[in-house]
Amino acid sequence: MADNISYNAPRGMRDFYPEEMAKRNYIFDAWRQAATEFGFQQYDACVVESLDLLKRKAGEEIVDQIYAFKDKSDRDLALRPEMTPTLARMIVNKQGSLSFPVKWFALAQCFRYERMTRGRKREHYQWNLDIIGEESVTAETEVIAAAVRGLELLGLSASEVKIHFSSRQLLGELLVALGIDEKFHQAAFLALDKRGKITDEQIAKLLLDEGVSEAGTEKVFGLLNIKSLDDAEKLLPDETAGLKNIKDFEELSKVYGLEDILEFDISVIRGLSYYTGIVFEGFDAAHGFRAIFGGGRYANLLNSIGGKPQTAVGLGFGDVVIAEILSDLGRFDEINMAAEYAVAYMNDEQKETAVKVAVKLRSKAKTVDLALNAEIPKKFFKRCEKENFKKAIFIGPDDVEKQTVRIKDLATREQQEVKIEDL
Ligand code: HAM
Repeated sequence: MADNISYNAPRGMRDFYPEEMAKRNYIFDAWRQAATEFGFQQYDACVVESLDLLKRKAGEEIVDQIYAFKDKSDRDLALRPEMTPTLARMIVNKQGSLSFPVKWFALAQCFRYERMTRGRKREHYQWNLDIIGEESVTAETEVIAAAVRGLELLGLSASEVKIHFSSRQLLGELLVALGIDEKFHQAAFLALDKRGKITDEQIAKLLLDEGVSEAGTEKVFGLLNIKSLDDAEKLLPDETAGLKNIKDFEELSKVYGLEDILEFDISVIRGLSYYTGIVFEGFDAAHGFRAIFGGGRYANLLNSIGGKPQTAVGLGFGDVVIAEILSDLGRFDEINMAAEYAVAYMNDEQKETAVKVAVKLRSKAKTVDLALNAEIPKKFFKRCEKENFKKAIFIGPDDVEKQTVRIKDLATREQQEVKIEDL
């Protein structure tokens, strides 16, 4: 058996050695801080979920990517590909006792059996921000503004990011105005979302296979020429609910100072079937990576799993694409994984003093790396340099006698002598 063991993680899965873990923490810290600043509360759930909850019949890519298995009691289980169905289940489970609107966030590990490309792995972490039970577009703007704050905490300015938005409700109204029956809308959304991944001919075939006429298919493609809300308005007989909703969203987002980041883009549809209203995706403007995050309004997911109808808005922001962007920008270079102090000693006779010094510093909430064995000074200072400690304390026989330590600032090379009791 040992012969067959590979020491690499399974394809598409990731190991987090301390260096990668530090980067992950850097991202998670920003996410957690932004969510907390915006008043979201953290929740979590097990990555194993019932397969039934995750399967939907709409023909979405995500459903085909589920890692599914049976447990020993023949239950159909799966590793979650996304957090939203689990969130919906948790909300429905306590729908009678929660006070709405609920604002929750999660740092969720998700698994999808994907074709591996840049920015896509088979396992990723996703920052989820969701507001459940709020009809107004304040829910959309709050969620988006929190994500923008997260980007800002990671050092990405508004000028580096663009959020493209549209509305499935509006798109539905446009399809109706063009005479395309509602029964085809879901298929039209999912087909159009594949643009760029498959050819337009293949998309047209998908629509024709669903029963959309040839003329209808042409009209669906025609919609993609809409460049502004004004263009959309001209195609509609009067101001529809979806149009008003997206205009309200645009107005409110200006109050948040988001107008330079937001850009109407009719081609943003999203690949998940449960979205019903405004949908959006965040991009790094300069680098041409895949979406950094995506989300939208989903009004029917709770009732679709047997709960009372309640509307919701949310987004998922993955760690893979953002890590590539931060790495390209050199933002990870500033991460220092080392403790502030390194404490070492010459011989075993000084070990007790060294331990006491470390204990004392740690009691003052300092981070301290204590040498596990006696060490010669040359080796110790070389190690300090390599590991990037800020301050070094090397204890020799004289220090024990005088009950003092010499604290060396490793950047300035200045040394300060301090009585141990005054540390
Ligand atoms: P999604 O667009 O499928 O939405 O995923 C959201 C984000 O997760 C993507 O923009 C990307 O950053 C990241 N992501 C997804 N799949 C992968 C992958 N294979 N490798 C790396 N990163 C990935 C959702 O999952 C929705 N449940 C989001 C949501 C929450 N909507 C409402 N609430």
